[in-house]
Amino acid sequence: MSSPAAEAERTNPHSDRSIGRIVSVTGAKAIVLLDGGQSGLQPSPRSERPEMGTLLAIDTADTVVMAIVSALSVPVPAQREGESELWIAELGLVGELCKGGPGRQAAFNRGVSIYPALGDRVRVASRQELEQAFCGDRRSSVRVGCIRQDPTIPATIRVDELLGKHFAVLGTTGTGKSCTTALILRSILQKSPAAHMVLLDPHNEYAPAFGEWAEVISQRNMQLPYWMLTFEELIEVLIGNPRERKQEVELLQELIPLAKARYGAGRGAVREGLRRSIDMKYTVDTPVPYRISDLIQSLDERMGRLENKRDLSPYRNLKTRLETISVDARYAFMFGSLTVNDTMAQIIGRIFRVPVNQKPITILELTGLPSEIVNVVVSVLCRMTFDFALWSEGQVPVTLVCEEAHRYVPANSSLGFEPCKRAIAKIAKEGRKYGASLCIVTQRPAEIDPTILSQCNTVFALRMSNDRDQEIVKSAIADTGSGLLEFLTALGQREAIAFGDGVTLPVRIRFDELPKHCMPRSSSAPFTERWQMSVGDDGFLESIVERWRNSSSTSAADAAALLAQAAETMAEAAAPREAPVEPARRDIPSLRREPAAVPASSAQSSPGSSVRALRDRLPQR
Ligand SMILES: Nc1ncnc2c1ncn2[C@@H]1O[C@H](COP(=O)(O)OP(=O)(O)O)[C@@H](O)[C@H]1O
Ligand SMILES: [Mg+2]
Repeated sequence: MSSPAAEAERTNPHSDRSIGRIVSVTGAKAIVLLDGGQSGLQPSPRSERPEMGTLLAIDTADTVVMAIVSALSVPVPAQREGESELWIAELGLVGELCKGGPGRQAAFNRGVSIYPALGDRVRVASRQELEQAFCGDRRSSVRVGCIRQDPTIPATIRVDELLGKHFAVLGTTGTGKSCTTALILRSILQKSPAAHMVLLDPHNEYAPAFGEWAEVISQRNMQLPYWMLTFEELIEVLIGNPRERKQEVELLQELIPLAKARYGAGRGAVREGLRRSIDMKYTVDTPVPYRISDLIQSLDERMGRLENKRDLSPYRNLKTRLETISVDARYAFMFGSLTVNDTMAQIIGRIFRVPVNQKPITILELTGLPSEIVNVVVSVLCRMTFDFALWSEGQVPVTLVCEEAHRYVPANSSLGFEPCKRAIAKIAKEGRKYGASLCIVTQRPAEIDPTILSQCNTVFALRMSNDRDQEIVKSAIADTGSGLLEFLTALGQREAIAFGDGVTLPVRIRFDELPKHCMPRSSSAPFTERWQMSVGDDGFLESIVERWRNSSSTSAADAAALLAQAAETMAEAAAPREAPVEPARRDIPSLRREPAAVPASSAQSSPGSSVRALRDRLPQR
């Protein structure tokens, strides 16, 4: 089909910035023979010559087809410069502008309904067309930068599509993921002062980027009482590998509902006869308060009733662990509270910013938490994000930002903490219905669980050098503009390819520069700067030693307590099957994980689910 306009252009090829003609159309791709190579025709001016990624326009009767240059070539180069040769551009047809009639605005659609015909002239898209294609509806989009092709055209993102269907920021380390994440979130927050965002910050770098907007929660001011953990999470904190200490797991499973009932009914009010009905009310997973002292008391009572003193060791181990963890300063945010009150509403209110109190984002600083339970804390937060969205029936949409996501949702099923993976997968798969959304930030897309990455509908791909990572990103994209991805290794600073529902078209973006005071603290060490002056102050070394010791004190204390106990048990004519010693089990978390026996599909929040999951991980008798 060729329009009168195209006819006019054909007689005067360069009158409308046209640069060539269509010689092939297949599916969503087209090939253009560029004027430049043919001796009879003047090459277009330098500025009009298409580059990789340039957006071109092809007029049809009712629409303007928009196409991205995905390859440029001269199949058979001429021997001498100036001689005629074929200059070819390959295009991906990505969308169309419906020409507005009189009084009607031209509208941009993704995909093409009317294809260009052979011989149609191709031209560089005008400024107005670029604006229509890239800017979309200004009310629901925010600016993050400009497009590479024309720096005067803003690059915008569609907030509802971006957040509603999850997004990812990917790129090699040092390419600007943290800055990009901060920039995107800041742009959104500027327009949404009552947002609800939670950012997991493993390097404690984001607080300066949000300033007044952020509620910063770190180990010092965090409160995450143990009774809000599911059974599986609590076992990870108290016991570690459930396979090796099965009896302790079983004991806790029995005693926790009793302790909950005891707390609920007022201390000491539980009579034997009442127990059964109360047990039914509280499962090990119900997030209601209970006292560690009640657990210890029950353990003591049971130990007293034991006839065979050989069976004491699981009771003793558990009691010692509960006692040491209750006084360990590093675990104070979880076990430190002297009184147990039902503070769940306040805790989730603070984390999810209800009411928002001018701080629409919570930054959870994870450095400083005992490293062995970072995964548990992340798991609790991810689980709470989903549950909060679910039980608030979508009235409070929440965005969870997962920095260094490959740590929490690794592709390798034997790494990571299973409940944490399950919680993030659940937001990825079902969160959309309830307004729980996910932002995944990672430098290793190839190491992240592919099912989670595939749920991220919008991707900002920064420079990426690793082949495997590039492959993963390419395979994640169905967009026809995928020719753009060839750029991944060549992207400059602050540049990214954005594609998916959060942008109107796949686009090469140049992000705006974050002001200095809004940048995340960079984690790269300033060697040359720091190597100018000696640091000789004695107090400096002492403070390092103190922090060092504090961070590993419990593992040592724990192991020592267990060793002492083991010796005691053996002295009491130890039974050969008892081996309560488990030295330094918390030092290398990844080595003591069990392969995941729980399929991701078993993710459910029904009461007792985590007990079932745990039971699956235990060896069969
Ligand atoms: N939008 C931006 N504005 C200002 N500086 C940026 C921006 N994007 C990247 N940078 C620069 O890139 C550097 C590395 O960015 P960073 O976000 O720490 O990388 P990554 O998180 O990928 O390791 C920053 O120190 C900053 O100088
Ligand atoms: Mg970073």
